[in-house]
Amino acid sequence: MAERRPRGGPDEGRELCVPSYGNRLRPAIMETSSALTGGTVAEPSEVPDVFDPRIYATGIPHDRFRLLRDHAPVAWQEEPEILGWPAGSGFWAVTRHADVVRVLKDSGTYSSCLGATQIRDPDPADLPFIRRMMLNQDPPAHGRLRRLVSRAFTPGRIERFEATVRKRARQLLAGAVDAGEVDLVRAVTDDYALLNLTDLLGVPASDRGLLHAWTERVIAYQDPDEPPALDERGRPVNPRSPAMLAEMFGYAQELAAHKRARPADDVMSVLAGSALADAELEMFFFLLTVAGNDTVRAAAPGGLLALAEHPGEQRRLWRGEVDTGTAVDELLRVHPPVLSFRRTAATDTELAGRPIRRGDKVVVFHASANYDERVFPDPHRLDLSRGPNPHVSFGDGPHVCLGAHFARLQLRVLHEELRRACGGLELAGPPRRLVSNFINGVKSLPVRLREPSAPPA
Ligand code: HEM
Repeated sequence: MAERRPRGGPDEGRELCVPSYGNRLRPAIMETSSALTGGTVAEPSEVPDVFDPRIYATGIPHDRFRLLRDHAPVAWQEEPEILGWPAGSGFWAVTRHADVVRVLKDSGTYSSCLGATQIRDPDPADLPFIRRMMLNQDPPAHGRLRRLVSRAFTPGRIERFEATVRKRARQLLAGAVDAGEVDLVRAVTDDYALLNLTDLLGVPASDRGLLHAWTERVIAYQDPDEPPALDERGRPVNPRSPAMLAEMFGYAQELAAHKRARPADDVMSVLAGSALADAELEMFFFLLTVAGNDTVRAAAPGGLLALAEHPGEQRRLWRGEVDTGTAVDELLRVHPPVLSFRRTAATDTELAGRPIRRGDKVVVFHASANYDERVFPDPHRLDLSRGPNPHVSFGDGPHVCLGAHFARLQLRVLHEELRRACGGLELAGPPRRLVSNFINGVKSLPVRLREPSAPPA
């Protein structure tokens, strides 16, 4: 087997954060131990591709994930050049719930820092910069930042935003109900997610368009509707590189200075007055702008789409037969806003009987774990009162989502207000989805909203 030269970035003196990237060439799949698979051995031709972002434009590839879960729960994936983005070294796809949780919890073995957390390798020169973000750190450094920023996310502060969030839901839904037939993404959910986040952060109303543009650039870069910026040689520029983020960082510093002068009850005021270094504050602003916007922006229409596709469950919700909070979690299970996250093996190890080598990329698929038959009985049935519901849509382990409480609050309020505003919803045309192997985005959701008096069909 050919060996590739290690090509890790600067290590900043941290042994653990030196990617080895050795021994990268592997067959598409190797035989799977019969103890794990019930005796079935997968052949190379049977290993489905779950990397190509275009696959996700028609929804989660359930058949492919089922095959992987049953026959190759840790399967090698090639990373060919796609949509102008250069080829990568390949990665292990982890698809069973138990293995996904194991990887997410074991940050000593599966590092967020070595190669950061996106499937595509960052430019090694950008790695030290990218590692300033809490998301791309390992304990103990990660714990220090997490403790500092958690102070801004107290349940009390989040709950104080409920009234504002509810008012916004009412306003946006009133316009949509008047129209009768609308694209809920354009009319409601895009603005809902963005404006709620900017309120929580304390971003003035006049600057909200800027945040929208910045997050689009970072998240939708695989989608043909959002062509990437090109470098002088016509190659796409990584939207997470320092050059692309300079404008956002300048803004974060200006906003922090403004909050120091006039503190308010918002997250940026707490961060501006904290012990965060300037560079840490900029990175955290970036992390929140992306993590807090596009996830809710995907979750809201994704959940509404699931309701439109399951009129029986929709009826139960409208009649008040299920708890809205429980329903929100089931909608997050069936439509996980985040499809996957990447780790890098810090040591030689083994997962589901498969040897993993130090430096290998390991990608967990939340989109598969949430449908694992070993954990969720009848996983393709939408059951709004499902319990227990140990979905992994918010991740697990040290990086478990910091904004989960705020996200759940926004989704619960949206469903409560939709029930007040109309009698139910049905699809008025096919939805359009984001081309991405990272975010399970919905770009348009045409629906007909029934009169409030009309019971769900
Ligand atoms: C339905 C909506 C959301 C989903 C599905 C979601 C999902 C996730 C996931 C899967 C992770 C773990 C990343 C990893 O394992 O490396 C994460 C982390 C994070 N999320 Fe969320 N998120 C949502 C909403 C939010 C919101 C509204 C905010 C903030 C306002 C937020 C802030 C964060 C932050 C700061 C982290 C990093 C935590 C760390 O590194 O310790 N998220 N989120």
